[in-house]
Amino acid sequence: MKVLITGGAGFIGSHVAEHFIKQQHDVYVVDNLSSGYRANIPFIDDDHFFHTDIRNYDEIESIIQTHQFDIIIHLAAVVSVVDTVENPEESNDVNISALVHLLELCRKHLSHLKKFIFASSAAVYGNETTLPKSINSHIQPESPYAIQKYSSEQYVKLYHTLYHLPTTSLRFFNVYGPKQDPQSQYSGVLSIMKNCFDHDKTFTFFGDGEQTRDFVYVKDIVQAVQVVLKQQASDGQVYNVGTSQPTSLLAIYKTFVSLYQKEIPVAFADPRDGDVKHSYADIEPLKQLGFLNRYTLQEGLDEYLKFEMNH
Ligand code: NAD
Ligand code: UD1
Repeated sequence: MKVLITGGAGFIGSHVAEHFIKQQHDVYVVDNLSSGYRANIPFIDDDHFFHTDIRNYDEIESIIQTHQFDIIIHLAAVVSVVDTVENPEESNDVNISALVHLLELCRKHLSHLKKFIFASSAAVYGNETTLPKSINSHIQPESPYAIQKYSSEQYVKLYHTLYHLPTTSLRFFNVYGPKQDPQSQYSGVLSIMKNCFDHDKTFTFFGDGEQTRDFVYVKDIVQAVQVVLKQQASDGQVYNVGTSQPTSLLAIYKTFVSLYQKEIPVAFADPRDGDVKHSYADIEPLKQLGFLNRYTLQEGLDEYLKFEMNH
């Protein structure tokens, strides 16, 4: 089948692309390399890589018309919450307008489309304290990023209701794994902690380290994509993707100590403004479709470390 992955040169996209390549699909990537890297997807040749922005509407239309994809996985986005706070208008163009354009192109040109998957985020729940976060929990977007993800989800759903496009949104919780970029202070905390262990740098806990998150290994994200692809019942639906296990930063730190067999210096600073204390996902609806977490945190971290050592 022909698969298009927008944002396919990024952290999650590169794993999704590799998975489809291994399954012998014909995989194409659209990416402007604003936060991704061409080197993340050496298995995609130049004929299958479009180095372009999803806002280049004419070019995107021509790609879609020409290639007649069966599956589209839409991951391209302004992913940094801070960037969306600094540039609400531009990030709105990327995170909402370009998505609506893509959906329109599917409606116009891809009558046989089998699935359109959109990457949403646990950010839509904001600081609402009910646990676990379920699809029926209160939504409390607290950044342009969260608003953009939530309204995109609604468009994605509406294109199913109004135009019968086979769409599904996945709310990813805290994803970690190989190729996650640790460079920004707002990168995923596990990539930052790993980077500190690799270079014997001080890791700073914002707050007491007792905060918990639902850390999900990137290959389980790939599995969630695979599960909803196979299930027509997922059309028009939104699912959480996590492990339904909360883990504290201190517990993660201890796991790193045992995996690296060393300690690193740590510091404690004030909690980040608006930081969520606890978060984990209710993933029952996804499990009912056949999803099962394959990676415990220990197994995911173990594979993450081994991968980076070998590359
Ligand atoms: P990433 O930054 O590694 O990947 C995003 C990719 O999109 C990059 O390769 C980037 O170059 C590309 N991109 C950005 N703007 C583009 C544009 N205008 N045109 C074309 N390409 C563009 O981030 P990621 O962690 O792999 O995130 C993938 C998706 O998952 C995003 O939609 C993100 O919001 C969502 N998500 C990620 C997490 C997480 O924990 N990593 C959690 C929730 C949701
Ligand atoms: C995640 C998203 C964020 C979104 C939020 C909404 C990622 C990378 N971030 O943030 O975009 O707005 O969900 O729910 O997915 N921490 C430290 N030291 C560090 C870095 C982080 O102690 O050096 C702490 C943070 O203060 C936080 C926890 O680690 O308490 C997790 O941080 P992070 O990985 O940024 O994820 P979220 O805060 O869940």
